[in-house]
Order: sequence, then C-alpha cells, then structure tokens
Amino acid sequence: LSSVEVDLSPVKEGQAITAMWRGKPIFIRNRTKAEVEAAENVDVKTLPDDNARNENLPGDEPGTDANRTIKGHENWIVLIGICTHLGCIPKGQAMGDERGEYGGWFCPCHGSVYDTSGRIRKGPAPRNLEVPTYAFTTDTKIKIG
Ligand code: FES
Repeated sequence: LSSVEVDLSPVKEGQAITAMWRGKPIFIRNRTKAEVEAAENVDVKTLPDDNARNENLPGDEPGTDANRTIKGHENWIVLIGICTHLGCIPKGQAMGDERGEYGGWFCPCHGSVYDTSGRIRKGPAPRNLEVPTYAFTTDTKIKIG
C-alpha cells in the first residue's frame, strides 16, 4: 500500500503507537504539554541538524517544532522511526523504554539521543528523524503517504 490510515483516538496524551508504512516503522506520539513546550523552546541554531526534515514542506525550512508538526495538531509528532545514523530503530515508543536525556528517543546501537520533536541532540546520527508525508483526514485520523 502506498498510504495507510491510522486512527489516533485510542492514543491518550503521553502515549505512543507505531504504525507501519512502506515497510518502515512510523512513530506516532501524543505529546504532553510539557513535551511540546520543551520542543518549542529550543533555539534551532543550537541543533546539530537545523533542518526541518519534513516531507510535507517544500524545502530547507528551519527545524522548529512548528515546522515538524501540523498546525492545530501540535501535540502529535509523526516520525519515520529509523535512526539516521545506521538505521537502527530507536527506543522510546514502549512504556518504560529509555527515552534519553531529551525525553524523545534513544538509539541503543551507538547512543544517538533525539528530543521530543525527534531532532538529533547528541551522538553520531547526522540528521533529525524524518517526518513522513501525512495529513489529518479527520480530527483523530491521519493518512500517511
Ligand atoms: Fe542509531 Fe547508530 S544506528 S546511533
């Protein structure tokens, strides 16, 4: 399938689910207010990768949290769950998983640390986790791809 629909209604604030799209894990997290705030309050100039890496945007937008989410749905972060270093699947989706010191995702393979926006903050990964093409089809449903 070139696109998949995902129902977000069972995913409560603070929870995450993993969907599959084109054979790739898609991380979907319903972020808490604190997680959104932490992501928004980052000075993009301090990021190892300051690019939004968002397939929904035309080009080289800065990696603000606003540029990695969809307006009106800022609590949701949707990411391709593949570490941009050597392709491991980062931890942070399951309850009790280590999320790393920025509260996002942690790649156990070589220690890359991603923030609550999926941006690389520490470790060998060169780029932010990619935001796939997706759109909200209703308030509680997204279509990926
Ligand atoms: Fe994730 Fe190397 S593959 S840190």
